[in-house]
Amino acid sequence: MENFIAYNPTRLHFGKGVVNDLGIAAKALGNKALLVYGKGSVLRNGSYDDTVRQLQENNISVLEFNGIKPNPVVTDVDEAARLGIAEKVDMVVAVGGGSVIDSAKIIALCIADEVSGWDVMTGRHTPVSSKPLVAVLTLAATGTEMNPVAVLQNHDTEQKIGFRHKLMFPVHSFLDPTYTQSVPSDYTAYGIVDLVAHSLEAWFGAGQASLSDKFVISIIREAMEVGPELMNDLDNYDHRARIMWAATNALNDTTMHGRVSGDWGVHALGHTLSYLYDTAHGATLSVFYPAWMRRLAEKQSERIVMLGKALFNAMTAEETIAGFEAFFNTLGAPVRAQESGIPDDKKKEILALMKKNRASGIHVRLDEDDRKKIADLIFD
Ligand code: NZQ
Ligand code: ZN
Repeated sequence: MENFIAYNPTRLHFGKGVVNDLGIAAKALGNKALLVYGKGSVLRNGSYDDTVRQLQENNISVLEFNGIKPNPVVTDVDEAARLGIAEKVDMVVAVGGGSVIDSAKIIALCIADEVSGWDVMTGRHTPVSSKPLVAVLTLAATGTEMNPVAVLQNHDTEQKIGFRHKLMFPVHSFLDPTYTQSVPSDYTAYGIVDLVAHSLEAWFGAGQASLSDKFVISIIREAMEVGPELMNDLDNYDHRARIMWAATNALNDTTMHGRVSGDWGVHALGHTLSYLYDTAHGATLSVFYPAWMRRLAEKQSERIVMLGKALFNAMTAEETIAGFEAFFNTLGAPVRAQESGIPDDKKKEILALMKKNRASGIHVRLDEDDRKKIADLIFD
């Protein structure tokens, strides 16, 4: 087991009606908020009204920036930050899914340090300070509500990349599963895939961490148990709550402590599809994981089989991979590129961008041969 520091300063408020405490929590952070949200789902599921009411009741003035898109772009972040700087806001309040909260994390840093979003994302600027961030999560998937990570796209550099910094933890995150009841079946499935993928990125990372391995297995088991039930009953509060809590724990370092790192190769591959075709994040992962595991199994299959034994009573790597494919299929998530709407004449274009961005894992390094094999497999 590696040395590690366990640090997580986010105060997470979980359950029905928790947003009723948002106003008082925000008041302690200042008097003027930049409220960030996406394309409007929050206006329909009550989360926007509840949040604004809380802010107004506590005499916090509210400025809005909306229109953050799924697979968010750095130009929106810069525009929002300019507004926040000009209006001298005290805090950023994000209402939405991972795209909104990720954007808000970088907006909060850019307002405080008066820098551009891409300078932060690429490490050209080392963050010095941040405006406090309050998050209201409406989609269970990314874990962003309790981690210091953001993922953004830049159309000038043709990249979708992640950035992590300790100043990027939300100060408060409000998780009311009720708000997730309006998430349609496709994004519900992608969210479940994403939380499973985060567990897998930990599992296939470097270093031995026995308890963290057991957390990985428990989180995937939880998703396998309740995920299919939720897909048949999207309004079910308890199912929504279980998935929401599983998603938080899949990427708040619970599964990472004691490892050298996670792998993140499948995420890197997936970002290529999101960048090129705007494919939903979770869909890129259900497409790439089976292919990535098949390629890995050609070289070493021990970790795949160990996982398969625990989850599917599988005896071989192929049985394990088939187990994951069957699970993703049950959710209605794609397991081949064509199923996510990408025709096979795009293979060359996908490979070219993977090469340009050197898509690889931290632990399982991918060379051009690996990427070519994996690209073949996603169109198999
Ligand atoms: O834009 P609006 O109208 O809000 O609609 C969104 C969007 O169309 C909609 N939605 C959100 N909550 C809803 C809802 N629709 C109905 N009811 C609700 N309650 O769902 C769509 C997708 O939203 P998005 O925020 O893009 O989804 P998700 O939460 O999956 O976030 C994906 C982004 O997070 C990044 C991904 O790369 C991707 O850009 N990730 C962030 C991570 C992190 N910060 O730790 C790690 C992840 O691996 C991931 O890379
Ligand atoms: Zn992810």
